Amino acid sequence: MKIAVIGGGSTYTPELAEGIGAAAELGVDEIALVDPDEAKLERIGPLARRILRRHGHPARLEWTSDLDRGVDGASVVLLQLRVGGQRARMADEAFPVERGCVGQETTGAGGLAKALRTIPVALDIADRVRRRAAPGAWIVDFTNPVGMVTRALLDEGHRAVGLCNVAIGFHRRFSGLLGCDPAELELDHIGLNHLTWETAVRLRGRDVLPGLLERHRADIADEVDLARETFADGAVPSYYLRYYYAHDAEVERLRREPSRGEEVAAIEADLWRLYADPALDRKPDLLSQRGGAYYSEAAVALVRSLATEDGSVHAVNVRNRGLLPYLPDEAVVETSARVGSQITPTVEHPLGPRQRGLVSAVAAYEELGVEAAVHGGAHRVYEALLAHPLIGQHDLADALTRRLIATGREHLPWA
Ligand code: G6P
Ligand code: MN
Ligand code: MN
Repeated sequence: MKIAVIGGGSTYTPELAEGIGAAAELGVDEIALVDPDEAKLERIGPLARRILRRHGHPARLEWTSDLDRGVDGASVVLLQLRVGGQRARMADEAFPVERGCVGQETTGAGGLAKALRTIPVALDIADRVRRRAAPGAWIVDFTNPVGMVTRALLDEGHRAVGLCNVAIGFHRRFSGLLGCDPAELELDHIGLNHLTWETAVRLRGRDVLPGLLERHRADIADEVDLARETFADGAVPSYYLRYYYAHDAEVERLRREPSRGEEVAAIEADLWRLYADPALDRKPDLLSQRGGAYYSEAAVALVRSLATEDGSVHAVNVRNRGLLPYLPDEAVVETSARVGSQITPTVEHPLGPRQRGLVSAVAAYEELGVEAAVHGGAHRVYEALLAHPLIGQHDLADALTRRLIATGREHLPWA
C-alpha cells in the first residue's frame, strides 16, 4: 500500500512518520511526501526516513514537489497542507479582532478566509488524485477547516473523509482519568468540526460520563475552561466552544496576548533547528507543543480501518444523512462512527435543543462558505459571514468582507 502525504514538508510530518513506523502490520510499503517547498522536503524527508529506519519499518520513502508523481498509485492520500503558511494564518487571526470579533484560524471570519484559499487547492489536488491514484483511493483530510474542506471534496464526488484530533484527545484524556485501556472506551463525539461535544463515554458499553464529570470536575473544567457549559449540559464541549460561549473574553485575550500563529512560528523556527541535526531519528518533544497531539495515532488507526474495513470506531467528518435531523443530509458532521465497508455513526446521545441552534447556524454558514470558496465573489463571502452566528449584522459582515478580501487577495484567484 502506498500513502501520499500532501503537505509532507510540514513540521508535523515526523509525528506521522512515528505513527506509520510503529504500525508495521499496516503493510505500507511506499510513502511519498509531496510539497511545493523543496527546501522543506530536503529537511523533512531524510528525518522521516531515519524515523522509519529506527522502527525497523521497511517502507520506501521518497519526496517530491511533483504532485502527479507523488499521488501516482497511492491508496491513501493524506491532506495536511496550509495554503499561505503561518503568515496567512496570522492575518486570519488578526483582521477579525480589529472589528471586535474572534480571530481564529478555523472559527469565524478567519476560518472563512482559510476556507476560501484552501478549498480550491484541495479540489485541484483531489482531481489529480482521481486521475493518478489507485482505483478506490481514499482522501483523508486533516486540512482545516476540516468540515468545509471535506464537504467541498464530497460535493465534487471524491472519496473523502475528514479527521481532527479533538476526539482522540478526549479519548486519551478520559481513559487516563478512568485508568482504563483506551480500547475499552468509546465516546459519543458529535457536532461539526471544531464545534463538538462528548455526550457519552462508554466504558465496556456502560455510560460513565456523569460520574466522570462529578469526580473530575476540577480537572475537566480547568482544562476545557468551560466549567459552566460542561456541567449545565452534562456533555463536554471541545475547547473551540470557548470562542462562542466566551467570545468577548476571548477577543479581549487576543488583543492582549501574542496570537497562536506567532507562537507557532516561534516553535517552528526551533523545530527546524532541531530537524537540521543529521543524527536526529525521532520526533522531538517540542513537537508536542503543537495542537496536533495524537494526530498520527488517529490517522494511522483510521487508515487501518479504511484499508481493512475492520469496523473500529473513529471520530470522522462525513455527510449528515439524517444523523442530526435538523441539518440537511448533505451537511458534513463530525461524529463517532464505525468504519467498515460503510461508515456508520455510533452516537446514541444526540445534542440537546441549546446546542441544536448553534450547530444549525454554523452548518448554514459552512454551506455558504463552501459556495463562496468554489464560486468566488465578494457577495458570497458576505452572505456566509452574515449567516455566521458570531457575526450576523450587515455592517459587520460588510466590513469583514472587505478586510478579508484585502488581506487574503494574494491567495484568492477571483479577487
Ligand atoms: C488542533 C486542531 C487542529 C489544528 C491544530 C492547530 O489540533 O484539531 O485542527 O490544526 O490544533 O495547532 P497549532 O499548533 O497549529 O496551533
Ligand atoms: Mn482539528
Ligand atoms: Mn455550487
